[in-house]
Amino acid sequence: MRLVNIKYVEEGSVLARPIRNSSGNVLLGEGVALNRNYLSKLGLLGYDILFVKDERFADIEFNPVISDKTREAAYNIVRSVTTSIEENDGFQIDVDSVKNTVLNIINDLLFSFDVLSNLSDIMGYDEYTFHHSVNTTVLALVLGMGKGFTQSRLLELGMGVLMHDIGKTSVCKEILNKKSSLSSEEFNKIKQHTTFGYEVIRRNRDFSVNSAHVALQHHEKWMGGGYPRGLKGKDIHELGRIAAVADVYDALTSKRPYREAMEPYQAYEFVYSQSGYHFDPDIVNIFIKHVAVYPTGTGVELSNGFRGNVIRQNKGLADRPVVRVIYQGEEPLAECIDFDLAKTLNIMIVKVENR
Ligand SMILES: [Fe+2]
Repeated sequence: MRLVNIKYVEEGSVLARPIRNSSGNVLLGEGVALNRNYLSKLGLLGYDILFVKDERFADIEFNPVISDKTREAAYNIVRSVTTSIEENDGFQIDVDSVKNTVLNIINDLLFSFDVLSNLSDIMGYDEYTFHHSVNTTVLALVLGMGKGFTQSRLLELGMGVLMHDIGKTSVCKEILNKKSSLSSEEFNKIKQHTTFGYEVIRRNRDFSVNSAHVALQHHEKWMGGGYPRGLKGKDIHELGRIAAVADVYDALTSKRPYREAMEPYQAYEFVYSQSGYHFDPDIVNIFIKHVAVYPTGTGVELSNGFRGNVIRQNKGLADRPVVRVIYQGEEPLAECIDFDLAKTLNIMIVKVENR
C-alpha cells in the first residue's frame, strides 16, 4: 500500500486501510474498489489522502503507532467526557476509563516508539477536537518516553493531555469554529478554556494535580507571552511544555474547514524554528529525534528526478528515510528502486506530493 492524494487516486484503486469516522464506524472497508461516487463523497467529507493497495509496495508494512482499537476507545472516552460535561453542566469525569485508555496507548507505543512514524490518523472534517486530543496525547507520550519518564509520570502526562482541551466545553461553538478573525473579547473567552479545564480536572480527585497543569499551561510559551499567566521557561510546568509542542504540531497538520493542513515536514520545520521561542529547546530536541519529517507512506520527489513513497525510517535521521521510487518524472519504471537516503547523501527530497 501507499498514500495517495484523493485527486490522484484512479477509479478502481483498492482501499488498503479502512476509512473510519470519528465514532470508529467503518465508512469504507479495506479491499473496497474506489469508484467515482465513493471518491467524491470522501472528498466532500474532507478525506484527502488515502492508503491504496499497490503491488509494488506489497512487502512494506505501514503500521499505525497505536492500534485502531486503542484509538477508537480513546475517541470514545474523550467524546463521552465532553458530552457529559456539556449536557449535565457538571464536572464528573470517568477517571478509570481515562486511565485505562492512556495505559493502552502507552502499551501500544512501547512496541512502536522507535518507529517515528504515522503519528496521526487519516481524518475528515468532523469532530476535530476528539481526533486532536488523541493525536496530541500520542505525540506527547512519545516525547515523554523520549525524556525517559517512568510509567506513572507518563500516565500523569497522558491523562492530562487527553483532557487538555476539556475546558473548551465552556466556550460556545460559534467562537470555536469562527472562520474570520476573533475580537479580543472572543479571544479572551477562548483563553478561559485553560483555567476552566484545570478546574474541571481538579474537581476529580483521582486525577493528579500535574495532569490538571497540562490543561492550565499548554498555551504558555517558553519566552513568555502565552496564556493564561504569561509564564516563562522552567516556570512553566514540564508537562505543559511537552503538551505545547504536541498540541501545536497536531493542530498544524490537521485539516480544518477554514484552512488546509500543513504537510508534516512543514509543521516539523515550524516546531524546529520555535525552539527557544514558543517551545522548550530540550523538548524540541527530543521531538526531532522521534518524529518523522516524512512519515512512512508519504509521496516524495527526489533531487535525481525519481518519484515514489517513503517505505522506512532511519533511526536518528528523521529527515533521511528510505524511499522506493516507481516513476522517473512522469514515466513509470519497469522495476522500482529503493534509495536509502542515509547512505546516498548526494540525493535529497525536493518535494512532497502524494501522487
Ligand atoms: Fe488548548
